[in-house]
Amino acid sequence: MNTATLRASPALSGDAVAAATGTAAAPAAVPARAGSLGISATGLSRRYGDFRALDDVSLDVGAGEFLTLLGPSGSGKTTLLNIIAGFVLPDAGQLRFGTDDVTLLPVNQRGLGMVFQSYALFPHMTVAENVAFPLKVRREPAAAIRERVARVLELVQLGHLGARRVSELSGGQRQRVALARAVVFSPRIVLMDEPLSALDKNLREAMQVEIRHLHEQIGATTVYVTHDQREALTMSDRIAVMNQGRIVQCGTPEEIYERPVNAFVAGFIGETTLVTVAPAPDGVLLAGGTLLHTTGELPAGELRLALRAERLLMPDECPAGANRIPVTVRDVIYQGDSLLLLADLEGGPRVSLRRPLRGSRAGSGGMPRPGETLMLGLEPEATLVVPA
Ligand SMILES: Nc1ncnc2c1ncn2[C@@H]1O[C@H](COP(=O)(O)OP(=O)(O)OP(=O)(O)O)[C@@H](O)[C@H]1O
Ligand SMILES: [Mg+2]
Repeated sequence: MNTATLRASPALSGDAVAAATGTAAAPAAVPARAGSLGISATGLSRRYGDFRALDDVSLDVGAGEFLTLLGPSGSGKTTLLNIIAGFVLPDAGQLRFGTDDVTLLPVNQRGLGMVFQSYALFPHMTVAENVAFPLKVRREPAAAIRERVARVLELVQLGHLGARRVSELSGGQRQRVALARAVVFSPRIVLMDEPLSALDKNLREAMQVEIRHLHEQIGATTVYVTHDQREALTMSDRIAVMNQGRIVQCGTPEEIYERPVNAFVAGFIGETTLVTVAPAPDGVLLAGGTLLHTTGELPAGELRLALRAERLLMPDECPAGANRIPVTVRDVIYQGDSLLLLADLEGGPRVSLRRPLRGSRAGSGGMPRPGETLMLGLEPEATLVVPA
């Protein structure tokens, strides 16, 4: 199928072709450009009627950086990505690639590599033909196309499947073809919207590492969308956490996990229970009156304690100086790789404590029984208090 047929096909809009090729499916040859390009968004907003899908978002993505947009469903991740791609125009704000203002530039002139949740591959073409497509549109010489396609297929470990039709591939293999097609023309910016959500857990985890590896080799500035916090922590140089059309916090995985700016971020990342606490001279007070020592200054306003399942300590694990938290055990659950203990705080919510299981199931032998009361531990450094 040639470009003209593609454009005539009702199933493939001009935008779809642009997404597949990173360029207008037009006669003019767009040369592949080397080197990555930073993205700078300032005050981007987008409304649908009265609803603010994106609300005054500013974000800088460094050249060559892997940045992930993370947030719950409806938080505006795809809207922001679509504005960067050019599928959606903002009502306000400015978007730059490097020093160029691209706010109003049509999608087919942005030269982006894109991967979406649905692979949007051409099913009747072979793997190699799919990957070659963006280069053919650019009218690269046949020999260069062959060489480049072979190299990129090697990168995504599909070197042996170039002649296979896409309709004869597994989901994970199709996703790799989509990846190969997105990077084959050396785009300076790659955008991915939940590209792994259709895959099962094992394949998803393998692909996370592969995409990261591919990014290191290609070096394109990458904006990646997911609502899976583990995926974001695994893959990103930085994570922008979104909620209700805004970026709530942007930082390295460690900053986001260890120093969340508020209860939303703390609750969204990690296995966290948020507990209302009151400020006290030396720390914070639980509803039952227990004092917990903290390190560092308390934030102003209403406070929440963010209890992480792996940071809570069993009574026999507590070092001197650890805070002690009285709880009543409700359940001990065997989950293969770990044990999960669910316990109620005095007058407060149910909290989780997780312990990895090394070796045999022996760990559960020493675990308490439902109904028992215990003093769990929490070191002052792990006593994370955030604004509500
Ligand atoms: N074309 C549209 N018309 C009306 N509302 C829209 C439109 N596109 C998006 N929205 C709304 O804007 C909000 C943000 O949508 P968006 O697709 O950006 O969310 P998301 O963070 O990508 O969510 P998900 O994780 O479910 O994909 C949602 O409430 C959505 O319903
Ligand atoms: Mg989305």
